[in-house]
Amino acid sequence: MSRYLVTGGAGFIGSHLCDRLVQEGHDLVILEDFSSGKQANLAGPASAAKLVQADVRSGLSAQAIGPCDGIIHLAALISGFDSLRSPDDYLQANLQGLLRVIDYAAEASVPRVLFASSSTVYGSAAAPRLAEQTLPQPMSVYAATKLMGEQLLAMYGRLHGFTHCSLRLFNVYGPRQATDHPYANVTCKFSHAAANGLPIDLYGDGAQSRDFIYVEDVVDAFFAVLDASPSSVYNIGTGRETSIRELIGTLESIAGRPFQISQQPEWPNDIRSISADCSRATAEIGFMPRVSVEQGLANTVDFFRPRG
Ligand SMILES: NC(=O)c1ccc[n+]([C@@H]2O[C@H](COP(=O)([O-])OP(=O)(O)OC[C@H]3O[C@@H](n4cnc5c(N)ncnc54)[C@H](O)[C@@H]3O)[C@@H](O)[C@H]2O)c1
Repeated sequence: MSRYLVTGGAGFIGSHLCDRLVQEGHDLVILEDFSSGKQANLAGPASAAKLVQADVRSGLSAQAIGPCDGIIHLAALISGFDSLRSPDDYLQANLQGLLRVIDYAAEASVPRVLFASSSTVYGSAAAPRLAEQTLPQPMSVYAATKLMGEQLLAMYGRLHGFTHCSLRLFNVYGPRQATDHPYANVTCKFSHAAANGLPIDLYGDGAQSRDFIYVEDVVDAFFAVLDASPSSVYNIGTGRETSIRELIGTLESIAGRPFQISQQPEWPNDIRSISADCSRATAEIGFMPRVSVEQGLANTVDFFRPRG
């Protein structure tokens, strides 16, 4: 049994990770400010964790948190679009927040720090499949904070002597993703609409494709690098592209009814196609996504169905 600190543990990805850490017998501290995370996300196994309600930007209290064997840093502002409107907020939440986590790792001699990075670091990179060696070209302040976060972690890891790993997550979806988030992503909005018979907005021709990865597969990836890993950066996706039209078709067959679609103009600078080359993660940490898009979407729609 080990003791971990998870920042942002009441969020979408964080709460699934915290549930699994508790289920696997680990001792857990969650640091969370509930800016987008929800108490309801911690109603399952993660309810056994110690909860420290605090803003990561203000620094981590050794007294409140205590010793730990690793930190998994997920707390962040998460919208590329929003980050271009409010760059200062993103620099503070995502970089100042990470610096405080690093301070804590140094002060409390935490041996390992894991970081939720993002496929958005690749931005406008022209490669058809994105590998870790692809030159990052961030197109938003959010993406730039993730790239710099990886670099800060590597630099301070060398200075302070902790090991680290950044996972570049592609488009993560699944239960508990917040539909009331102002920048909720397409899988979340469409799954919620499919479950509740609501209309959807389709931007552009729907031929844009993304690499959608189910949240439990992302949890598997964090588990694969919990203790050690040969490399410090991994792509975490499925390697499969799904177009928005395919997504709509799959959700329509899960819901058993067609969507009412309102056609909207294409987003400016929308990237047409994104897919992950995950061969490094497969070769080095044995990462293999297990959940098909069909199964993952069925679970997600089920979560959003009206209860009672
Ligand atoms: N969802 C995706 O597709 C995706 C893709 C790539 C990377 N990521 C990264 O994964 C991480 C988790 O994302 P998510 O989708 O679960 O988002 P989320 O918004 O559900 O989770 C973020 C959590 O961090 C908390 N938080 C935010 N600012 C905080 C602060 N200053 N102090 C303490 N807590 C704070 C929020 O309340 C929330 O619980 C983020 O770092 C995000 O950038 C997500």
